[in-house]
Amino acid sequence: MVTVTFDKVRKAFGEAVAIPSLDLAIASGEFVSLLGPSGCGKTTTLRMLAGLEQPTAGEIMIGERTVNNLAPSERDIAMVFQSYALYPHMSVRENIAYPLRKRGVPKADRPAMVQAAADLLQLGPLLDRKPRQLSGGQQQRVALGRALVREPKVFLLDEPLSNLDAKLRAHMRAELIELHRRLGKTMVYVTHDQLEAMTMSTRIAVMQGGELQQFATPAEIYHRPANTFVAGFIGTPSMTLADGEITMDQGRPVLKLGTLSLELPADHLSERPEGTRRVTVAVRPEDILVGTGSFRANVRLVEPTGHESIVLVNAGDVGFTVRVAGDTVLKAGETIPLDLRRERIHVFDRESGRRLNADLAAATADPVRSRA
Ligand SMILES: Nc1ncnc2c1ncn2[C@@H]1O[C@H](COP(=O)(O)OP(=O)(O)OP(=O)(O)O)[C@@H](O)[C@H]1O
Ligand SMILES: [Mg+2]
Repeated sequence: MVTVTFDKVRKAFGEAVAIPSLDLAIASGEFVSLLGPSGCGKTTTLRMLAGLEQPTAGEIMIGERTVNNLAPSERDIAMVFQSYALYPHMSVRENIAYPLRKRGVPKADRPAMVQAAADLLQLGPLLDRKPRQLSGGQQQRVALGRALVREPKVFLLDEPLSNLDAKLRAHMRAELIELHRRLGKTMVYVTHDQLEAMTMSTRIAVMQGGELQQFATPAEIYHRPANTFVAGFIGTPSMTLADGEITMDQGRPVLKLGTLSLELPADHLSERPEGTRRVTVAVRPEDILVGTGSFRANVRLVEPTGHESIVLVNAGDVGFTVRVAGDTVLKAGETIPLDLRRERIHVFDRESGRRLNADLAAATADPVRSRA
């Protein structure tokens, strides 16, 4: 098993800097997702690791080896792309065997290797079919089989599920988790789908504008976003983000949010504000309570999704997104009591966007083992 390290890696395309300086240390056997909006540098990062793109500066290591000057074929990696084009005129068996043929693996050794990959992906009964005779998910599995067959040290996957429908994606997510568990290989997975990143990863690297915003377990990223970007990006529906001010009152931080005034727990912040601190706060839709509490809120919109409803309310001058159980009866226009779970309010410095909650330095368990 193998670690992957980016050390001050920079990538510029002519004048345009895609990645200013990336430091990332992936532990052996991890499933790491690179997650972020379009254009944030996910594919560029993966392509540099694969050897398809040369870094402008810095060092990339796979295991103990610096790979900057190694060709893709010398890196012991396998890559699956979004467009996983299988050879249409070849059978599944021939498609999977192709990388072996290309690398000059002796002909006599190939059938057993193809069979092992096919068994792992449950492709045995499909080996003699052509790609057009397969469903999208089956084709995806063949593409994975083609990557698996060489037994690479590291797997690189760039949005490999994006061509599939929702149900197949859910199915393939489960299969990939299972595959990773069985192989125990280091995998780096690019996606802009946070559900994929949250469900599959041992750790997620959240990127924006070529910069790493946070690298942590899915739970850590959800419950302790490191800055306002991560807070706004992770979670569906998004957190409510609002500007406010915090002052100390008799040893307790008091948050002013529009016309709302909320006392926060005494130990809520990592540092005591001097005077008035300008902050941005973020509140998860499930951390807002309706039908109870001392604030008055006006219901603007109710979106039932079945088991839950998403409700937009105004309280003070702030518009909040709230998640309630699907059987909650609420009507647009009505006025309801509302409260916020104070201990769950995320607080960020308004200028730098940096997290100010006292919980930031929470212990992080070994990400690889914590998922097993
Ligand atoms: N060959 C290239 N020449 C010039 N600019 C490039 C090249 N490849 C990527 N870029 C730029 O680098 C930045 C990062 O691109 P990249 O493809 O890594 O983004 P991404 O995170 O994979 O986005 P997406 O989710 O849309 O696939 C973008 O601004 C892109 O325009
Ligand atoms: Mg991309």
